[in-house]
Amino acid sequence: MRLDRLLSELNIASRREIKDIVRKGRVSVNGETARAPELKVPDGADVRFDGHLLPKPGPVYYMLHKPAGYLTAVTDEKRPTVMELMQDKRQGLAPVGRLDLDTEGLLLITNDGTLAHALLAPKNRVPKTYYAETDVPIPPEAADILSKPVVFKDFTSLPGKYERAGEKAAFLTVFEGKYHEVKRLFHAAGCEVVYLRRIAFGGTELGDLQKGAVRELTEEEVRILKECAGIT
Ligand code: URA
Repeated sequence: MRLDRLLSELNIASRREIKDIVRKGRVSVNGETARAPELKVPDGADVRFDGHLLPKPGPVYYMLHKPAGYLTAVTDEKRPTVMELMQDKRQGLAPVGRLDLDTEGLLLITNDGTLAHALLAPKNRVPKTYYAETDVPIPPEAADILSKPVVFKDFTSLPGKYERAGEKAAFLTVFEGKYHEVKRLFHAAGCEVVYLRRIAFGGTELGDLQKGAVRELTEEEVRILKECAGIT
């Protein structure tokens, strides 16, 4: 990618200012001062602006621990969005799918549109695991109901994987991504979700990432995600 395009994607400054910034020698690529805005920057290069390391060019993959109260969107006029929690402000970064405003947990954020699309395609049946707490004790028959397809007005769910975690708590893995799916499934099983956290997505796990924190995925995690999404 050209250096001026990369700096522009990172929202460093306007296109014209970027040319000036580069010509003044304020940007280095792999340790060498860059003087030409049209310089070709290799994927994964170490690019610095006034000595500060910039996010790597090329595809990037992040995991965010979404707190409740943040909208899963790139921009919104009224409410704070998950993108406001990201240090990396490059254009093209977007969340993979959606979590409800009150849902917490694992949200992938990437500029790799091909992977995002494949992770969300229902035919790829990418697993998503949630920890849910409910308003009343979960009825014993919930285990059976949630492990089989549930028929809704607008769709029939694929069988989920249910695991009890307490009288009013359970883990549920689903293999599609319908609107309010987990809340609707628990409703079908006779209780309402009062707290929801996604703890795993396509083989990646939230682990002990702090609420509101972001980290880059490891190469191994990206490989697992691609495998899960059927990208080789
Ligand atoms: N299912 C839901 O009901 N809500 C979410 O945020 C995610 C899955």
